[in-house]
Amino acid sequence: MRTKIVAGNWKMNMDYFEGLNLFNDMIALINQEVTGKQHAVICSPFIHLHALTKELTNEKVSIGAQNAHQAEAGAYTGEVSAKMIASVGATHVILGHSERRQYFAEDGKLLTQKIDAALAHDLTPIYCIGETLKEREAHHHFDVIKKQLTESVFHLSATDFGRIILAYEPVWAIGTGVTASADQAQEIHAFIRKEIAHKYSQAVADGITILYGGSCNTKNAAELFAKEDIDGGLIGGASLKARDFVDILKVFN
Ligand code: PGA
Repeated sequence: MRTKIVAGNWKMNMDYFEGLNLFNDMIALINQEVTGKQHAVICSPFIHLHALTKELTNEKVSIGAQNAHQAEAGAYTGEVSAKMIASVGATHVILGHSERRQYFAEDGKLLTQKIDAALAHDLTPIYCIGETLKEREAHHHFDVIKKQLTESVFHLSATDFGRIILAYEPVWAIGTGVTASADQAQEIHAFIRKEIAHKYSQAVADGITILYGGSCNTKNAAELFAKEDIDGGLIGGASLKARDFVDILKVFN
């Protein structure tokens, strides 16, 4: 059985106190209501990471960052390294999110370095891939997905590949209220698993957790997560409400 995960991506939302309140509300609900083996990963802005890991008492929950610099340390004003993130007790990091690719020009080569840096500091990368609307309309989505895998994570050994989490996030579904249908998402997830089996082995492909992200919410999560190759979600907007996030997590109860 693959690990079922619901990860929250707060993006650039929540000041320090708002974030702590949201987190405490979530933990209270999780303590009371989450009964299965599923796992939550809360990816907050950097400013919250230390406080959240210190407050953390529930072993069903991990804390992650939303980005990490590829270097160990140095003259990179404003940046935060994987080593720094790990030093405050966070265990995960989102890499390759489409907003980083789009607004911060992160490309496959850079993301390879970021993946390596994260793994070197024992952070679990949540590596995001997904096509734009234009790419889907041109029927290039399979090629795009394959390229994003090949460029940034297929250089890993089978052992290291087994340490990452993948998230399929069609760019046209992020923050738009338009969700990929469960069948559309399943089609891509199955394709991703097939490519992994081809590159590594069926066992590696069967073991990796692949999340769906893009307007995933309390209304559509159950249908998406029921699909064979969808192992959970990466949740943006709906992760800013404790009730909604925990309800999505409870799909796996
Ligand atoms: P959304 O964001 O759930 O608000 O669409 C998902 C994401 O960007 O990870």
